[in-house]
Amino acid sequence: MAKSQSLTFFFLLLVISFLASGAKAASFTLTNNCGYTVWPGILSGAGTAPLSTTGFVLNSGQSRSVDIPSSWSGRLWGRTYCSTNQSTSTFSCVTGDCGSGKIDCSGSGATPPATLAEFTLNGSGGMDFFDVSLVDGYNLPMLVSPTSSTASSGGNCTATGCLADLNGICPSNLKVILSDSGGQSVACKSACDAFGKPEFCCSGAYGNPNTCKPSSYSQIFKNACPRAYSYAYDDATSTFTCPTGVNYIITFCPSNPGQKAGENNPQAAGIPLINDSMVFLGPASGGTLAKTWRFAAVTSAASLAAFWLQF
Ligand SMILES: *[C@@H]1O[C@H](CO)[C@@H](O)[C@H](O)[C@H]1NC(C)=O
Ligand SMILES: *[C@@H]1O[C@H](CO)[C@@H](O)[C@H](O)[C@H]1NC(C)=O
Ligand SMILES: *[C@@H]1O[C@H](CO)[C@@H](O)[C@H](O)[C@H]1NC(C)=O
Ligand SMILES: *[C@@H]1O[C@H](CO)[C@@H](O)[C@H](O)[C@H]1NC(C)=O
Repeated sequence: MAKSQSLTFFFLLLVISFLASGAKAASFTLTNNCGYTVWPGILSGAGTAPLSTTGFVLNSGQSRSVDIPSSWSGRLWGRTYCSTNQSTSTFSCVTGDCGSGKIDCSGSGATPPATLAEFTLNGSGGMDFFDVSLVDGYNLPMLVSPTSSTASSGGNCTATGCLADLNGICPSNLKVILSDSGGQSVACKSACDAFGKPEFCCSGAYGNPNTCKPSSYSQIFKNACPRAYSYAYDDATSTFTCPTGVNYIITFCPSNPGQKAGENNPQAAGIPLINDSMVFLGPASGGTLAKTWRFAAVTSAASLAAFWLQF
């Protein structure tokens, strides 16, 4: 090959590599079914390509789709009661604030308490791992629904979330009260966040699944939301898996009565609204989530570097 030809060939491969590594492997559709505005925040995991957006506004009834690269890991949540301080021009939220001072979260996570949706796409065994977590507390109901017609190809590819209004049933010593709203409860802390004790935080001597057990507080969360993580070692009943490549619908306030029937309907998705008589079996396998997070190290940068090295 002539030098110019091989150079052209090289750049062609480079372009293909870029296209392949930035492939839009999946999409998240976020829908705000709440009767109030929600500002979603998105945090990409370490070593994962950031998304095109890290935070935006969703008015009541609005939806927005976000393209997700393959092998992405990260978390997303809903911020509530947000406003911009006119004198300082900084944006902040009463719940789920990411501290950036802007609508974009710019690589910062949620201040607890906040309901979190956690994802590791294309993790161990080429599967997607996802869950809804109350380990950092709760601020609003959330449903994660895979839009999958390939559920039979393995895993437990089914909707998860927390549909209950935990703000209403939150124990008074865990409640976050909005000061200027006549005592309205806007979020519910985890016992770890409220009391900082190792037995609630699964830290120190309680840093493994044999010693850290559900508490009376975490059980309030688990009873209300059986599919959501209620404490750190709640993996067995709270981690869900789908074949890589499916899309996800994330709905805030899924059981709002104004909701349309369809894939993001919690009852259609098999999640009972009030009385859950589902029994989850299987041994507690602590640390599964922590492990799946580590599978997120494959980045587009790495595949690009591999192409450079071949030449
Ligand atoms: C999943 O990750 C593996 C490497 O771990 C990669 O070879 C494969 O192309 C990825 N699949 C998708 C759909 O991105
Ligand atoms: C706006 O920020 C200033 C300075 O931090 C603070 O004193 C003031 O109370 C804030 N205003 C509102 C409405 O929160
Ligand atoms: C879903 O499947 C994964 C992998 O087999 C398993 O670890 C997890 O416990 C299962 N989750 C539920 C809720 O059954
Ligand atoms: C939930 O439903 C089951 C079976 O239908 C019933 O036995 C149980 O009492 C119900 N629990 C509550 C809290 O209503």
